[in-house]
Amino acid sequence: MKSSIAFSALLQCLLVLVIQGNYDNGLEQLGCYRNRHCALGGRPFPVHLKTFHDALHMNESELEVKVIRPCAELAKKKGYLWFGIEYWGECWSGEHAHSTYFKDGRSSHCCNGVGKDNTVFAYRIKEPMCDQYMTFDDETRAQNYTNIDGPFKTDNNGSTNHMFAGNLWYRFLGNTGTAIATTCVPPRHCDAILTGWMKDEHPRVTDGVVN
Ligand SMILES: *[C@@H]1O[C@H](CO)[C@@H](O)[C@H](O)[C@H]1NC(C)=O
Ligand SMILES: *[C@@H]1O[C@H](CO)[C@@H](O)[C@H](O)[C@H]1NC(C)=O
Ligand SMILES: *[C@@H]1O[C@H](CO)[C@@H](O)[C@H](O)[C@H]1NC(C)=O
Repeated sequence: MKSSIAFSALLQCLLVLVIQGNYDNGLEQLGCYRNRHCALGGRPFPVHLKTFHDALHMNESELEVKVIRPCAELAKKKGYLWFGIEYWGECWSGEHAHSTYFKDGRSSHCCNGVGKDNTVFAYRIKEPMCDQYMTFDDETRAQNYTNIDGPFKTDNNGSTNHMFAGNLWYRFLGNTGTAIATTCVPPRHCDAILTGWMKDEHPRVTDGVVN
């Protein structure tokens, strides 16, 4: 898809699944998942960040303050937005954890927001760009949409759905396509007279926000 204005990068969220869950303290609870270790090609969260000792004896509020939130901070410092707590106090994460945390299936072997043995309780750190965004999903923004005779509507004349509304986060979905073009889009495509595209490759989650 393409639009007639230049975008600075908005791509982080394209990698994000829309996930249902409870929201609390800047963290989304993704739920309780099994960890079968190396079965089926590796751990759901492959990178060990820290073990918080004595977690076994902590109550729910202590776990929140002394394990879950500190683990979130460690993950975030590494550029990871998905993390999990296993065995009460083990903090795990990884660059691709967003696509592996659920690989060994659901479990009910968690309590107080942490996993017990061979189980992880998974979280996602909420970021404004991934949680507060506008959606473009109409076909006129797709790269292959042509309207040679006009009037051209994208970012000029259309519903809220069409309009670029300034310095906000946008997510491209559905008929629009899910990735910004990285090569030249000819004029008079995507219902615009002039088109735009990204100069570089799409960033990875760990690249963070790029220009
Ligand atoms: C949790 O444990 C701490 C420290 O032992 C204690 O101060 C706090 O009252 C406990 N909270 C609950 C809800 O039991
Ligand atoms: C654009 O491409 C998509 C996917 O290939 C296709 O479903 C759609 O019909 C195309 N739209 C136009 C206007 O050609
Ligand atoms: C938007 O386009 C419609 C035709 O699709 C036209 O009738 C209308 O005048 C246009 N509005 C603006 C503000 O350009």
